[in-house]
Amino acid sequence: MKTRVEFELNGAPVAAEIEPRLTLGDCIRHELGKTGTHIGCEHGVCGACTIIIDGEAVRSCLTLGVQVAGKSVMTIEGLADGDNLGPLQASFQKHHGLQCGFCTPGFLMTAHALLTREPDADEERIRDVLSGNVCRCTGYLSIVKAVMEARPAYQREQGVGA
Ligand code: FES
Ligand code: FES
Repeated sequence: MKTRVEFELNGAPVAAEIEPRLTLGDCIRHELGKTGTHIGCEHGVCGACTIIIDGEAVRSCLTLGVQVAGKSVMTIEGLADGDNLGPLQASFQKHHGLQCGFCTPGFLMTAHALLTREPDADEERIRDVLSGNVCRCTGYLSIVKAVMEARPAYQREQGVGA
């Protein structure tokens, strides 16, 4: 039996009639049409499906859609400002932090949650947090470089010194 779930998605209220067993990743992609979130392993291992719930980076393949009732959810679609790339997206583009791009939404959301919370995160911390995400294409050097270079934008936004 389907149940109604209402939550905020990228700043706008949304509602879906879903089976209680439906994962949040599938709910977002198939019910709400936000296909930027990628589903890879479906076991919580690869990190491609990472989204942000109330400020926390979370695996959307391990979360049920009904669990986010009343919560604030952010997906990759929420990172850009209209047609302008967000700082992390622009930095990934500049540093070639992606090839096939399958893992990229998960890296971006993981890094966005980190820098929003810890805009002074150093390279060691960034590497540690990103170690939960798997990329089969680029290796990680360009990804780490891209996240490092996006830090000042987050520091400015939060009024902390670079
Ligand atoms: S699809 Fe969710 S962690 Fe891989
Ligand atoms: S860019 Fe292809 S898996 Fe990471």
